[in-house]
Formats: sequence, structure tokens, C-alpha cells
Amino acid sequence: MKLGTKFIHAGAEPDPSTGAIMTPIFQTSTYVQSAPGVNKGFEYARSQNPTRKALEEALAIIENGKYGLAFSSGVAATDAVIKLLEPGDEIIAGNDMYGGTYRLFSKVFEKFGLKFHYVDMTDAANVRSFVNKNTKLIWAETPTNPLINITDIAAMAAIAKEHKLLLCVDNTFASPYLQNPLDLGADIVMHSSTKYLGGHSDVIQGALIMNDTGLREKLYFIQKSCGAVPGPMDCFLVLRGIKTLHVRMQRHCENGEKIAHYLRNHSKVGKVYWCGFEDHAGYNIAKRQMRGFGGMISFTLKDENEHAARKLMSSTKLFSLAESLGGVESLINHPASMTHASIPREERIKNGLTDTLIRLSVGIEDAEDLIEDLEKALNI
Ligand SMILES: Cc1ncc(COP(=O)(O)O)c(C=O)c1O
Repeated sequence: MKLGTKFIHAGAEPDPSTGAIMTPIFQTSTYVQSAPGVNKGFEYARSQNPTRKALEEALAIIENGKYGLAFSSGVAATDAVIKLLEPGDEIIAGNDMYGGTYRLFSKVFEKFGLKFHYVDMTDAANVRSFVNKNTKLIWAETPTNPLINITDIAAMAAIAKEHKLLLCVDNTFASPYLQNPLDLGADIVMHSSTKYLGGHSDVIQGALIMNDTGLREKLYFIQKSCGAVPGPMDCFLVLRGIKTLHVRMQRHCENGEKIAHYLRNHSKVGKVYWCGFEDHAGYNIAKRQMRGFGGMISFTLKDENEHAARKLMSSTKLFSLAESLGGVESLINHPASMTHASIPREERIKNGLTDTLIRLSVGIEDAEDLIEDLEKALNI
């Protein structure tokens, strides 16, 4: 099946009781049993729910995996992966990633005896040098949030295989339309489904997809034991979002390309971060492992002062100033004070995330209108 057909039909079976083409929202907490322990495969909705089941099947199909698990947020999905580990285990993660992932690792899990190494993952040799006998997991986000760095997933998978480590890839920025990490050797794919999978800025949700049955059992055990499951209405929204993922992503990519080039040619703009530029350090890897370059762009102004950056972010009209990304509408964001505020300033600056960086989630409006909006704001 080609991508578009797959996104529309993944996990979708007409409801057996009515023929409804859309999976019903099974808004129930429990299921009646005909005798103790005799049930129709559903006992209690923290453990199983038919709407969630349909979504989890769809998630597996669209990431070319065997199993999908849905969580109440992206960070809840990340949390479940880290709970596979034991005190004393070490994790190699990127030095540029979503601030909430960094916060979860450094503020929640470090105190339970886990050790995280935050390294430059654009160079596989660098990652290799941090592997030791305690290492259990490589956590890779690619493209990264917000600096759009690219990690070579196949190279990470080779290191993971050689040292018997797990490789989990946060595929939120690319979405399964642009990249499938399991095909490149990753063990687990993680999504903030809040973003491109949902696609309409109306739901918070996360996902994990994997091939290994033992790994699925462990993660399912964590899902039901810790209880960070999404409600059926939210599962319905993500199922619906997935059906248009290919159409939306095509437009995100087209608009992203136009806006990246517009910004790069603008006299007031400094550096533009977008992995579709041929001179981007990760361009060749991105070209190999992705089907397009996406709609996430970061940039700085030539006038490197925070006041100018803040003025621009408060002046756009179509680009709404807000956290999050991946919805149909365009958003503008100040990582230093918003999405990445939980990373200590020195740490951020050392890794290239400056106070003047501006991040765009380019939506699927008409590109000309988006460019006009940016042009007006750049000239205020
Ligand atoms: C790359 C990435 N991973 C994970 C998350 C966390 O997802 P959620 O906000 O759904 O918990 C985000 C949220 O912005 C993100 O951008």
C-alpha cells in the first residue's frame, strides 16, 4: 500500500455492531463480564479500550511496526520508555531536544539513579565514545527541536546493535509521512501525537511503536500499571488526524521550503535552520532517511538582540505566538522563554540555542499570505 492509502485505511474497520465507518468513541470505564474472568477481551478501560485499540493498530501500521501503544501525552510515552531502565543505567541523549524531555530526564529521573549524557548526536563517533558497560538506551530526536539538527538513525542503530542497547527515536518533527525509524533499525519510535499526527491543535497525546513482542509486553505493562492512557475521544481525534497526514505534510513541506528560502534571502534575517538547505550539515543524511524536509524552521535576526526578536514574535498576525507545533495553523515561538525554558541558560547557549532564536511551525495556509505576514512583522 502506498502512503496515502495507508494513512486513510490504517486500523479502520467498520464497527461490527453497526457498520459505522468511523471507529466509535467508546466512552466507558468498564465492561460487563458474563462470569468472573469471562469477557470480550476488554476488562477495564485503563487496560483496554476499543477506540484506543483501533488507534494503536493504526499507529503500528503507519510506522511499519508490529505494535503501537497510545499514551496521554508525548512526555508520558517518553516516561514509559525510561521506566524500562534500572537505577545505575546510563542513557545517551542529544544535546538539542525538546525542553520537556530534558526536564523529565534531568529533574525527574536523575534522582532515581539514572545517568544521562547529553551529547552532540550529529556525529555517530561522538555517541560511540559515551557508551560504557552501564549504557542501556540511546535516545535520539531527529530533526531536533529547535535547532533542526539531524542524527543518522541507521548509524545509531548500528551502535545500539553492537552494544546491545535500545534505540528510541522521537519522530515527532518528521512524522511517519517523512521518516520511519523502525525501518532504519530503531527499536522504539516515539511521537508526541499532539503534533502532526493529531494535526489540528486540539489534543494532547503520545505514542510508542515497536516490533519486538517482549518489548511491547514490558511497555504495555508500564502503560497499564502507571496509567497514563489517553481517553477515547482523544484517540478518535488522533485516528481522524492520521487520515489526512499525507495531504497536510505535503503542504507543510512545500510551505516550509518557500518560507525557509524567503527567510534566507531576507536582509534582516541572520541564520536560518532548515534541513532542506543543501549546505545544512545534516542535508545528506536527511535526504537519505527522510522523504521531505518538513515545515519546522528556526532563525535568528541579524540584529542579535532579544528585544528585536520579541518584537517580531509579537507582531505576526497569521503566525500565532504559542507553544506546540504540527497543526494546520502556523505558530511562532520563542524557545528560550517558552518550549525550552526548562533547560539551564548556560547549557542552552553552549549548544547553540540562543536567546534570540525564533522557531516557526509552518502551517498549511497559503504560503504567500504567510510570507506577507512575516514581511510586515520584519519591517515593524
Ligand atoms: C519533539 C517533541 N517531543 C516530545 C514532546 C512532548 O509531547 P507532549 O507535549 O505531547 O507531551 C514535544 C512537545 O512539544 C516535542 O516537540
